[in-house]
Amino acid sequence: MNPNKALWEKGDFTRIAASMRESGEALVNALGVKSGLKVLDLACGDGTTAVPAAKLGAEVLGVDIARNLVEAGNRRAQEQGLKNLKFQEGDATDLAGITDKTFDLVVSIFGAMFAPKPFDVAKEMVRVTRPGGRIVMGNWIPNDPTLVAQILKISSAYTPPPPEGFISPMTWGVEANVIERFASAGVPQGNVSFIRDTFTFNFPGPPSDFVDTFRRYYGPTMNAFDAAEKNGRADELKKELDELFERCNTSQRQDDTSIPATFLRVTVSVN
Ligand SMILES: C[S@@+](CC[C@H](N)C(=O)[O-])C[C@H]1O[C@@H](n2cnc3c(N)ncnc32)[C@H](O)[C@@H]1O
Repeated sequence: MNPNKALWEKGDFTRIAASMRESGEALVNALGVKSGLKVLDLACGDGTTAVPAAKLGAEVLGVDIARNLVEAGNRRAQEQGLKNLKFQEGDATDLAGITDKTFDLVVSIFGAMFAPKPFDVAKEMVRVTRPGGRIVMGNWIPNDPTLVAQILKISSAYTPPPPEGFISPMTWGVEANVIERFASAGVPQGNVSFIRDTFTFNFPGPPSDFVDTFRRYYGPTMNAFDAAEKNGRADELKKELDELFERCNTSQRQDDTSIPATFLRVTVSVN
C-alpha cells in the first residue's frame, strides 16, 4: 500500500474539513471563480474548495488519493445537487488519464504539498493547466508560529525520524523551493507570486475537544499519538497540543474555538 495514501485513508479528514468551510469559501470567492471556468481541485479532500467553486458555476473536478475522501466528496456533490462537480481518485505526482492543458485554474489548498516527489507534482500541475491559466496553492509555512505548522512541529518530536530521502511537505512553504520546483517544470520565476494569507478553523467546542478531533481523525496527528503511546508519552503530547490550541484560540466564547492560521498563497501563471 502506498504510505501516502494509507496516511490519509487512516483517518477521516472530513472531521477537520468541517472546521474549514468558511475560509474555503472565502478563498474561492477571492480567486474570481465564475461560471464555465474549468477547475481542478487537487488533493481536494471532501471538497472544501471544490464545492464552493462548483456553486459559483465552474466545471469542477476534485482529485484526491484517499478513497474515503473521494466518496465523501461525491456524496456532498450529490446532496447539494451539483452536477458540475465530480470527484475521482488520483495521485498528484502522476495525474494519469488527465489530458494536457485542460484546466483554467488548478487549485490545491494544503493538498498537493502533502504528496511526495514535489518536482513531479509541480510538473503535473503545470502540464494540466491551459496556457493563460493559473495554479493556486495554499501551503503551510515551516516554523510559522500559527496552528498547523506548530501541530506538525510538535508531532514530529514524538514520531520516529522519517525515512532517508523524505522531503518534508513543509518545504512547499518556502518561496525558494516553490520557485525551483516550478522552474524545473518550465515556469519562469516572474510568473510565480506569493502572499501571506489566513485560514480560520472554526470548531463547535472548546480547544481541547478540537485537539481530540485531530487525535481521532487527522492522519499525521493519529500517527504521532500512536508513536507517543508506545513510549508512554501520549499525555505529554496531548498537553502540548491543548496548550497550543488554547493559545491560538481567538474565540471569546467558552463553547467554541476559532483559530486563524497563516499560510503561503502561491499563484503561478502558466504561459
Ligand atoms: C490537509 S488535507 C486538505 C484537503 C483539502 N484540500 C481541504 O482543504 O480540505 C490533505 C489532502 O491531500 C490529499 N493527498 C495527500 N497526498 C496526495 C497525493 N499524492 N495525491 C492526491 N491527494 C493527496 C489527502 O488525501 C488529503 O485529502
